[in-house]
Amino acid sequence: MHEFSGRFKEKADNILLDFHSSIHFDSKLYFYDIVGSIIHARGLEKASVITKEERQTIETSLKEILKEIENEEIIFSIEYEDIHMNIEKILIDKIGDIGKKLHTGRSRNDQVALDMRLFARDKVKSVQSNLLDIINAIHKLAKNNTKTYMPGFTHLQKAQPITFSHYILAYAEMFRRDYSRLENAYKIMNISPLGSAALAGTSYPLDRHFTSKELGFDDPCFNSIDGVSDRDYLIEIMNAFAIIMMHLSRMAEEIIIYSSSDFGYLELSDSFSTGSSIMPQKKNPDAAELVRGKTGRVYGNLLALLTTMKGIPLAYNKDMQEDKECFFDSVDTVTASLKVTTGMLDTLKIKNENLLKACNDGFINATDIADYLTEKGLSFRDAYKIVGSIVAYCIDKNITLESMSIEEYKNFSPLFGDDIYGAIDIKTCVEKRKTFGSTNIESIENHIKFLANFLDTEKVKINENSLFDIIK
Ligand code: ARG
Repeated sequence: MHEFSGRFKEKADNILLDFHSSIHFDSKLYFYDIVGSIIHARGLEKASVITKEERQTIETSLKEILKEIENEEIIFSIEYEDIHMNIEKILIDKIGDIGKKLHTGRSRNDQVALDMRLFARDKVKSVQSNLLDIINAIHKLAKNNTKTYMPGFTHLQKAQPITFSHYILAYAEMFRRDYSRLENAYKIMNISPLGSAALAGTSYPLDRHFTSKELGFDDPCFNSIDGVSDRDYLIEIMNAFAIIMMHLSRMAEEIIIYSSSDFGYLELSDSFSTGSSIMPQKKNPDAAELVRGKTGRVYGNLLALLTTMKGIPLAYNKDMQEDKECFFDSVDTVTASLKVTTGMLDTLKIKNENLLKACNDGFINATDIADYLTEKGLSFRDAYKIVGSIVAYCIDKNITLESMSIEEYKNFSPLFGDDIYGAIDIKTCVEKRKTFGSTNIESIENHIKFLANFLDTEKVKINENSLFDIIK
């Protein structure tokens, strides 16, 4: 800043430069800064603040700078603090006085607010696309396992029989909600701060509706103070990211447990497992553990920004520069975690036989015996009690519900008949659950069809809206 300023007599101390310069992390925003500047220049031309020729010179030069950055021909300097002033300085070095006109009617405050919004908007779309990929992997697994029976758990105790499809589709719903949360965040944030200037707006007759539309926003923000002070959208997106990580972490936890030799329900492919440096027999689920572990930092990032924002007076304060590293880190972490989990799912082996075997101990069809007695006229509570005694009897004798003789059943209630064995067959138990959203095949197939549709329509939407036309 000192470089551009006439106010300061001394150079900025290196300790200060090191402390407050953000170029080592906000250089990530170069594309959005350039796109924003091009549209601002077009706005200046429209307001007759600069001539058409001047705007063209600025625009051509900014596009050149973009190429040079992409070809790694440019070294940024901490003396120019951040990406905004670095690019402005490069522009001025290239085209002199015309370049000095670009910052008319603009402040770094609305510039950074714009850049972050454009960046965040793209990242929302890209994480949404990662979510579609993981939903797609789940969809495939569900399609292939509509008849794969397994125990469902509550309290990590075997509870009732379900199908693997039903189990894995629960995660599709979590990720669909995450997808909607991001869609909502996008809608709320798609408002342009450009033209808010430092905080009060600007005396130049800039058409904020024009620049907003050019950048693909729905509207310019209503209040210029809010325009430069608002970081809600980052918090909202990081909140959605934290919830995605929570979902991924729950899935990771189950992948870890279910692929352990004690469970043996799943097997991770070699390409998504790691070995041990000492124990030759080991095949470890490191990727799943890391996803679970990284959840902590994404939660931390959310809390960091919430805390940073909570005591800041209006409008811009430098505290707000702290929005970047935590947001960038969350974007990277959630993206990598979604990708690696999708990879694990795409190559996951479902051990059908072990899953079925697991259905045969743990009395997971006990509820169905109670339902059987209820159908024969008993109240559910009485039936529930009788079945409890049957289970205690089986544990005592070390037998299963399937291996109990009909005489033994009849000792508990005369309502039992030979049809009890059919009623507690795992497949029957699954198919009997008829309510909407339950584990029976019709319901699963319905869900699978719905998801295929969802994936088709949403994939098209994600690919819309690009800023690339501006830099052509
Ligand atoms: N690097 C700053 C940030 O990230 C840009 C805005 C600086 N504005 C200012 N008035 N110092 O927040």
